[in-house]
Amino acid sequence: MKRFAPMSRRTLLLGAGAAATVGAAGAYGQGHAMRRIAPNRASETFNPDVDLDLICKRDEARILNGGPTRVWRYAGNLIKGPSNALTPAPDTYLGPLLRFSKGQKVRIRLRNELPEETITHWHGLHVPMLMDGHPAAAIHPGETYVYEFEIRNRAGMYFYHPHTHEKTATQVYHGLVGGIIIEDDEERALGLPSGEFEIPLVIQDRSFDDDNQLVYGGDMHTSMFGFYGDRVLVNGRRDFTVDVANRPYRLRILNGSNARIYKLCWDDRTPLTVIGVDGGLLEKAETRPYVMLAPAERVDLLVDFSGRPQGAKLTMMSGEFYGLMIPPMAQRMMRGDLAVGEEFPLFTARVTQASSDLWKLPEKLSTIRRIRREEVANLDDPIPIAITMAHMAMFLNGRPYDHDDIQQKERIPVDTTQLIEIFHEHGGMGMGMGGMGMGRMEMMRGGGMMRGRMGGMRGGMGMSGMGMMGMMSMAHPIHLHGQQFQIIERSFEGDEDAYAAIRDGFIDTGLKDTVLVAPGERVRIVKPFSDFKGRFMYHCHNLEHEDAGMMREFSVE
Ligand code: C2O
Ligand code: CU
Ligand code: CU
Repeated sequence: MKRFAPMSRRTLLLGAGAAATVGAAGAYGQGHAMRRIAPNRASETFNPDVDLDLICKRDEARILNGGPTRVWRYAGNLIKGPSNALTPAPDTYLGPLLRFSKGQKVRIRLRNELPEETITHWHGLHVPMLMDGHPAAAIHPGETYVYEFEIRNRAGMYFYHPHTHEKTATQVYHGLVGGIIIEDDEERALGLPSGEFEIPLVIQDRSFDDDNQLVYGGDMHTSMFGFYGDRVLVNGRRDFTVDVANRPYRLRILNGSNARIYKLCWDDRTPLTVIGVDGGLLEKAETRPYVMLAPAERVDLLVDFSGRPQGAKLTMMSGEFYGLMIPPMAQRMMRGDLAVGEEFPLFTARVTQASSDLWKLPEKLSTIRRIRREEVANLDDPIPIAITMAHMAMFLNGRPYDHDDIQQKERIPVDTTQLIEIFHEHGGMGMGMGGMGMGRMEMMRGGGMMRGRMGGMRGGMGMSGMGMMGMMSMAHPIHLHGQQFQIIERSFEGDEDAYAAIRDGFIDTGLKDTVLVAPGERVRIVKPFSDFKGRFMYHCHNLEHEDAGMMREFSVE
């Protein structure tokens, strides 16, 4: 394979010459590698404030009683930088928690000790394309990819995970995920609960066999709706309980599940005090009865345990909802342990210590510069993200993922701010900006494979009621790489009762990189595309959907 000098214009823009080095077939899911970017090397001119190794490897974790579970995990090693830049997560498969400050220069040496290719993405961070973990940059076993970037994001909780072509879901499932916390001066000045009073929580669902090994259903059901496990793990542990003092805490929650959406609420129905979301602090705290948290979304909660007696317990539940998957047959298939939309516990806080801390949450938390109308380049002509979900077709804008398939509306001038409209498209064939095109034809041919798998399913999911193309509606968490965006409008048409059970759980006032688009919803966002040219992905963060092709890329040029 031809190597390119790091950061050369040619590599950055992936010109036609680079594309020609791999045949087009690789993009369509025959399991081929699609590498087009050579492993980046450390640059001599980059002087990092933080320098660390991150190794993807096979390991074992004690999750259930009895024998250990074979997992894949990130192991870390700090080479240079403040000691809190890397905190290992003992006794779990989670990767180390990385803690950076805005403005720091960070070097991460990602080494692949897995039996297959991989690449890591820094979810929510605004970095150049070569540092973004593009699937085309996947490294083979034994190789190292060196990331070097400056932290440009404001304070917030971000995370890292593989972004390997068609293998993201399984690699994450086996344990590859870790949190990133970014701090800045604006946030430090607030004196929010920190140290042991700041608790990052990663919620995931998993299934195990009788030997305590992870089970991943690679069946039709999983590829259509995503993976749903029958057990909740928090920070890689079951029945997660944390001992707290009766004082304020900061809980920083990431939904690290492949597909499952949670409706966070306390068991005693104490309202939630939300102080932040994906892209950091809100301007002011918001009080909500519950918060919807879709895969990849984060929520920052201030929980005040003062006034609760010793021994008191407070359990975070996932509350009841329905309608995020419309076909009743889909819902029927989810029955069993942890049925989608049924109530179940996530984790428990137990008050075990007294505290006299009287800290009060400040009224103003941060300043978010609202994007003004005049700044938006395409007010009358939003960029569409049309979601199509069907038996043989997981599309955005009528086309499956393909690396060299940029359509006119996916070309974005650098340093502009764009209006983007995300909606469900059930109109069938030929809609969307690309029309049917080659991409769709290829996907339908590839559909033979999925039909084959469907044969193995027991009853339930016939084609009836969904039509030939099997269009159906479910909620999709849509994620855009690059800078955080602002949600400016949601409109809804559909089952009002279903919507009433979720609508108060959307926190749209902060900066976001992932937005849940419920069935019947149309969401408008404004997003800047500053600083970096190149290809940046946008996709559904239901990881099975992402791997099935519900992903596209913008070419920022
Ligand atoms: Cu967290 Cu492109 O993903
Ligand atoms: Cu991302
Ligand atoms: Cu989806």
